Amino acid sequence: MDEKFTAAVVTVSDRSYRGERPDGSGPVVREMLEQAGYQVVRMEVVPDEQGEIEALLRELADQGDIALTVTTGGTGFSPRDVTPEATAAVCQRMTPGIAEAMRLASLRITPRAMLSRATAGIRGRTLIVNLPGSPKAARENLEAVLPALDHGLEMLWGGPADCAGTGGK
Ligand code: MTE
Repeated sequence: MDEKFTAAVVTVSDRSYRGERPDGSGPVVREMLEQAGYQVVRMEVVPDEQGEIEALLRELADQGDIALTVTTGGTGFSPRDVTPEATAAVCQRMTPGIAEAMRLASLRITPRAMLSRATAGIRGRTLIVNLPGSPKAARENLEAVLPALDHGLEMLWGGPADCAGTGGK
């Protein structure tokens, strides 16, 4: 993409937050975003606490200059996995196709893809996308949707997006 969108990466993990495990997925997501032309302006690690996740997602969206927030972790079935609930609580409009596409692509890799409860939605002018927590899963899920995100962000940010003129991209 020509114009750079700004992005934030949020790792949701009790263990990484406490310093018991290095954050493996955040840097993977950051590298993928930068290679796709995004400018990553914030990297954050939060525990699996719904209130704290919500507060950070609100802060990132409401500061007004972040187009995309990508979270990694907390999408599974563990009792403390609440990232999708926090995301849904702060979004004004959901974008279900993004999670559908991630699970569709991931099911070709592993049947366990169905265990990710990841969601995505829009708060203000920030698109929030959840990814699972392992570096492998985060990479595979982001790969599935990254090529389409810039067109959505162009619509969200009032750019020259024209669905008819994208040549099928
Ligand atoms: N998706 C892909 N592409 N590759 C994976 O290895 N792992 C799954 C799923 N999605 C996986 C995947 C597994 S095992 C789980 S439990 C869920 O993501 C949720 O992961 P999380 O709890 O780390 O967020």
